[in-house]
Amino acid sequence: MPRRTIGIAMNGVTGRMGYRQHLLRSILALREQGGLVLPDGTTVWPEPVLVGRDAEKISALAARHGLDRWTTSLDEAFADDGVEIYFDAQVTPARVAALTRAIAAGKHVYTEKPTAETLAEALDLARLADEAGVKHGVVQDKLFLPGLLKLKRLVDAGFFGRILSVRGEFGYWVFEGDWQPAQRPSWNYRAEDGGGIILDMFPHWRYVLDHVIAPVRSVYAQAATHIPERQDERGEAYKATADDAAYGVFELDGGVVATVNSSWTTRVHRDELVEFHVDGTEGSAVAGLRNCRVQHRATTPMPVWNPDIVPDNTVPDNGFKVQWEMFLSHVVAGTPYDHDLYAGARGVQLAELGLQSWREGRKVAVPELGR
Ligand SMILES: NC(=O)c1ccc[n+]([C@@H]2O[C@H](COP(=O)([O-])OP(=O)(O)OC[C@H]3O[C@@H](n4cnc5c(N)ncnc54)[C@H](O)[C@@H]3O)[C@@H](O)[C@H]2O)c1
Repeated sequence: MPRRTIGIAMNGVTGRMGYRQHLLRSILALREQGGLVLPDGTTVWPEPVLVGRDAEKISALAARHGLDRWTTSLDEAFADDGVEIYFDAQVTPARVAALTRAIAAGKHVYTEKPTAETLAEALDLARLADEAGVKHGVVQDKLFLPGLLKLKRLVDAGFFGRILSVRGEFGYWVFEGDWQPAQRPSWNYRAEDGGGIILDMFPHWRYVLDHVIAPVRSVYAQAATHIPERQDERGEAYKATADDAAYGVFELDGGVVATVNSSWTTRVHRDELVEFHVDGTEGSAVAGLRNCRVQHRATTPMPVWNPDIVPDNTVPDNGFKVQWEMFLSHVVAGTPYDHDLYAGARGVQLAELGLQSWREGRKVAVPELGR
């Protein structure tokens, strides 16, 4: 069977997302399963080149996983013709410059969200990539969560009738760093370093609502910095300048109203860290990361809630890995891929308009984005 090796420069792999989800659970997992087999029988073999700022850290990481290719120079990675894809999981403010250089070097690009900190930059990136004729993709991992796949199955099957409303709850308590170490890097709590929960989470809500329920047409957001001071990785106190909770109201096509709370300052007593409750004229459902409970119009109790569980008809793989497989197949075999830099820009647009809504204290329309 033909085998196609594809070099991927992976930047930001010493970070939380880059290491666990993208290197370990996607690219190395793909290699462990023998590569990605395309429908024509070709085996795509991903060959990572680890890129980082610190030679000691990045070489140790490569050695730990038996990888022999690493560099501290993006130029060196881009000069290698075997490297066809550039992947970025750096801190958000470092992203636009690196992606721009990768596109100029003729590499396909695949990136974590948000693709940029402003809509103008996000759209520029998408247009640049199109002009350069490279393929582009952005991580939209929540779409591949088992619970949301089940919710989408219900929507597509018409289970809900006319959808009326969506209530989303996302969050958990992020320790302040004093008596227990924070579970998220400190830059997330500094606006000047690309932090803030609106910029972090609204890009997710954009694609979740657009894909699973209906296109987003307006946003009203109220946010807060509930914890004004935290301690960083070195145990030093710093001022939190970014929003750590956001309470959003979104109008969707068809009059659907979605309220989505995102918070790093909430203690959870619910089944899952993220939950979407959807009500429709014919039925209702509550979807979490894994499960989805439904209640049909005909079984609506009065007043006892008696939910059924949507069955696990398949066992979905890690969502990040599924998306890597889709993108690799898009690059190698030209299969369709929706989650491109324009989709990424729609996410940044919702974050930007959400921040504007909070600043101005009013509802803001979300205009269609041209290409
Ligand atoms: N898809 C998701 O669910 C999801 C979840 C969390 C974070 N993210 C996104 O992934 C990206 C990385 O987030 P993370 O939580 O892994 O962050 P992190 O701080 O753990 O990792 C950041 C990486 O960027 C590198 N880096 C490059 N330039 C840097 C600089 N100037 N300062 C500090 N680090 C620098 C670090 O070395 C590290 O490898 C962010 O853009 C974030 O929005 C996505």
